[in-house]
Amino acid sequence: MPARPSPFAAIALVALVAAAGHAQTVGVVGVLGDGIYRWDASEAARGAAVPSMSFENPASREQTREIAVDPAGLATRPRFQREPGEQAGEGGRARVEIDIAPGTSLYGTGQAAGPLLRNGRVTECWNTDAYGYQDDAPSLYTSHPWVLAVRADGTAFGVLADTTYRCEIDLRDGIVFRADGPEFPVIVIEGASPQEVMVGLGSLMGTIAMPPRWAIGYHQCRYSYNPESRVREVAQGFRDRNIPADVIWMDIDYMHGYRVFTFDHEQFPDPAGLNAWLDTIGFSNVWMIDPGVKDEPGYFVRDEMIDRNLAVLDSGGEVYRGEVWPGWCVYPDYTMADTRQWWAGLYRDFMGLGIDGVWNDMNEPAVFNVPTKTMPEDNQHRGDSALGGPATHDRFHNVYAMLMVQGTREGVVAANPNLRPFVLSRANFMGGHRYGATWTGDNTANWYHVDASIPMTLNLGLSGQPFCGPDIGGFAENGTPEMFQRWIGFGALFPFARGHTGKGNIDKEPWAFGPEVEATARRALEQRYILLPHLYTLFHESSVTGMPIARPTFFADPTDQALRGEDNSFLLGDGLLVVAQTAPLMDRVPVMPRGVWEPLGLVADDPALPDLFLRAGEILPTGPIVQHTRERPLDPLTLWIVLDESGRAEGTLYEDAGDGLEYLEGEYLLTTYEAVRQGDLVTVRVRETEGQMPRPSRRIVVNVLGGGRVSSAQGVDGQDVLVPVP
Ligand code: GLC
Repeated sequence: MPARPSPFAAIALVALVAAAGHAQTVGVVGVLGDGIYRWDASEAARGAAVPSMSFENPASREQTREIAVDPAGLATRPRFQREPGEQAGEGGRARVEIDIAPGTSLYGTGQAAGPLLRNGRVTECWNTDAYGYQDDAPSLYTSHPWVLAVRADGTAFGVLADTTYRCEIDLRDGIVFRADGPEFPVIVIEGASPQEVMVGLGSLMGTIAMPPRWAIGYHQCRYSYNPESRVREVAQGFRDRNIPADVIWMDIDYMHGYRVFTFDHEQFPDPAGLNAWLDTIGFSNVWMIDPGVKDEPGYFVRDEMIDRNLAVLDSGGEVYRGEVWPGWCVYPDYTMADTRQWWAGLYRDFMGLGIDGVWNDMNEPAVFNVPTKTMPEDNQHRGDSALGGPATHDRFHNVYAMLMVQGTREGVVAANPNLRPFVLSRANFMGGHRYGATWTGDNTANWYHVDASIPMTLNLGLSGQPFCGPDIGGFAENGTPEMFQRWIGFGALFPFARGHTGKGNIDKEPWAFGPEVEATARRALEQRYILLPHLYTLFHESSVTGMPIARPTFFADPTDQALRGEDNSFLLGDGLLVVAQTAPLMDRVPVMPRGVWEPLGLVADDPALPDLFLRAGEILPTGPIVQHTRERPLDPLTLWIVLDESGRAEGTLYEDAGDGLEYLEGEYLLTTYEAVRQGDLVTVRVRETEGQMPRPSRRIVVNVLGGGRVSSAQGVDGQDVLVPVP
């Protein structure tokens, strides 16, 4: 529907008296889409709001329609208020408050330590280098000023505080956002289910792009594998031991004195040769680039940046300097398109060395040896008008990384226009999933972090960032063999699955803890690769709809209150439940969703691995064990099936070339399989296909599970397969 000239319904600005004694207003509201509303504190605040940094298309936030109903009847109504500053003359904070009905469960809030359920928690959106963080960390590396609320009846709504300023999400009594800076727009998304809200969020923030298939394999990292002989040894170690893996990572020690876009010529004399060799054994590579540029005249990156006047300035207008790995550094001001373009250009020669993926780190931005761990809030950015114009660091802090990664991604794409980019970023912001994947930062090898890695991954997914996971094995400290064994057991099933550890720690490759742990790790990774067809299908779904890949168990039944706090388990898609044991004694009893869930055994029994269950009505596509994603085509395709009460099941499989952009032109195959019971037989067939890619000629195996039994048959994919009822 076209936007009307005066889009906002000015509701009577009823002044309410809040408990704190400061006037609250009900604000003004306009419609952005079906069940999607934009609220502002006032018409004036609406007019003054800077462009959204989170919306995929910032202009769409401005295209509101007039609301057709009485806003007083809307289910979710924010109230606006200005909280005064503590000192006279201070700007104070903009406060938005939303009541919740009893029985409402709160999620999201981005990358937050602690449990899945966020009721009672306070999370601060302020990107922070939080090495060794624990449960009480106020803020972590990425910021998502967003709450997903699930009402007692399973209906849901989401609320976005559309501000980049430091923002506190206080969930101790309803939903309260308090943000520095001016009043900000509040976006409310209503849904009949939490899933519907996630799809609504995807429609506003955009979705992830389909990653290259190798990026969905297992990644092996450490700080650092050096010299290059060690990189070769570790990669070959996977192949020699038949432990599947796709990617090996180069952390900062490959650089010459931590100067970005340089190489240590003694330790890494031939990066292109190394990458080419890795390729011959089926390994892709990812190399790190940080934002801090060593402030050393004569160093080309620094000189270009200074000569072109692209650096962040201090409050006095001089180039700002802060300490990071290389010593004193200058920082690109990514709030200017010119800077992002220059930065993108640096990747041309870099990627030309056969580099497959890029890891952007320390981009909160981290600054050493200052109490705030970042640059001063009164530093100056020369922000383009598209981003709301120049501003001090307090407005751009939370999006510094997102803008960096946007530039990186543009550079990677320009260097390899026919390939899908892969970029991992430590810091990011709401909407930044469009540019890069993320991980949960510098965790610690202890049981708290084993446990926290599931809810953290789930809440990131519920905040629009589906491509994420923890450092499996823990970044800080060594941990124990048993801890590693358990962690990789379920960690191998996260959307982003990477083992990593910090300098000085013991080795943490899958074989580093002896034969028993190695056997579990091999099974865990084999399980990931068996499930890769399903995972790839989920990445495709997420790239279309914005749905998370790893989903909280309560998604199986949002009306079931008993599931609302369950965070030792998670769903991959709608119907595959992963039940992990995240406590040392394995003494947690998971809350299972109602209905029939059949146990699924994809690899040899191993108590350190999570239990898998397949929901009645599901068809799960799986593949053979491969050592990496390029090893061989999907053949045979194995479908695991559990019939529902009416004797039916259904599932989808998405396939494409695994890289390149032809899939955007229709070069893919999306197959919906169905299973139908008639008498004692189940017929499994292709019900529907989409896309132009021809069906590969391959074998198909169908396994129907029921009552703890399995009944199997084989056939040719595309033709009906008959299998006896188990
Ligand atoms: C930061 C990163 C970590 C990396 C290290 C060295 O601590 O979070 O993953 O290994 O820097 O680059």
